[in-house]
Amino acid sequence: MDRFLRQLKLDAASLEARLEEVLSLAKIKGEIYRPGQLLNSMRHGALNGGKRLRPFLVMQAGALFDANQHNLLQIATALECVHCYSLVHDDLPAMDNDDLRRGKPTVHKAFNEAMAILAGDGLLTFAFDLLSNEQAHDNAKVRITLISKLAKAAGLGGMVGGQVLDLYPESDKPGMNEITRMQAMKTGALIKFACEAGGICGGASRDELSALTSYGEAIGQAFQLADDILDVTATQSQLGKTTAKDKDQGKQTQTSILGLDAAKKMADELVTKACDSLAPFGNRADLLIQAAHFTVERTR
Ligand code: IPE
Ligand code: IPE
Ligand code: MG
Ligand code: MG
Ligand code: MG
Repeated sequence: MDRFLRQLKLDAASLEARLEEVLSLAKIKGEIYRPGQLLNSMRHGALNGGKRLRPFLVMQAGALFDANQHNLLQIATALECVHCYSLVHDDLPAMDNDDLRRGKPTVHKAFNEAMAILAGDGLLTFAFDLLSNEQAHDNAKVRITLISKLAKAAGLGGMVGGQVLDLYPESDKPGMNEITRMQAMKTGALIKFACEAGGICGGASRDELSALTSYGEAIGQAFQLADDILDVTATQSQLGKTTAKDKDQGKQTQTSILGLDAAKKMADELVTKACDSLAPFGNRADLLIQAAHFTVERTR
């Protein structure tokens, strides 16, 4: 786990340096002007800590294929912009109404609601600008594949769709199947994209890509299970966000249905499943195996 934590830190530092670079006041070609207040609220939402697990997954899935590091970083930055936007909007009063994120006031608290909505919009759109840039890949076909996959992971049939089902389940008392699907959408889709994107960038074969897909699906589910478990078991200062939210807001989670012990067992089984999927890569996948364990062993 030490090697994993060291690499997570290194990749997070590269990601943050790249975010600093691209989220600056200097406008880029094609833009008219960058309003400082919008930039500041976008930076508050994106440069406020965070584990940076999704960027790590892009970088390390790509490393399996010796993909170009600069390309991987560009893709990871785009994905993290989408993730951060999802958090900024998730915290809005109309959604989870949270005041604390990554140990700091949420964007709508530090600025205001309109700025939080617009900062989210800005981060989401910017992600696709980053991904369509040659720095994401020199082959335009690969860029289009990535853009198409991220759009699907983030939108109607992915993260946004999942957020809707989280707020407004289609049945009065959603059961395990409904909740599992909702979580695969709201959280799983972006995590799965992270794993696949690294492979796509590095020219993975169909079989290799399908191994990464299985891995991504399993850790995505385990990751949200852990999020819901931590919501019950962790402290606010540990998580940097308000705890006991799910119960307070009457949200059904796999944890609330199964109970803590069974939920933990299920998360462990998913980690095993994730690691098994990586068998084709042998010990080259060591960091990704440790990452799978981290998704459930993490304390924040
Ligand atoms: C939190 O994601 C929201 C979920 C999808 C469960 P993370 O736990 O990855 O949040 P950060 O990026 O580390 O703050
Ligand atoms: C959020 O799930 C998933 C997103 C798409 C942002 P949660 O609402 O459980 O995430 P936290 O607990 O606020 O980080
Ligand atoms: Mg939510
Ligand atoms: Mg929330
Ligand atoms: Mg949560």
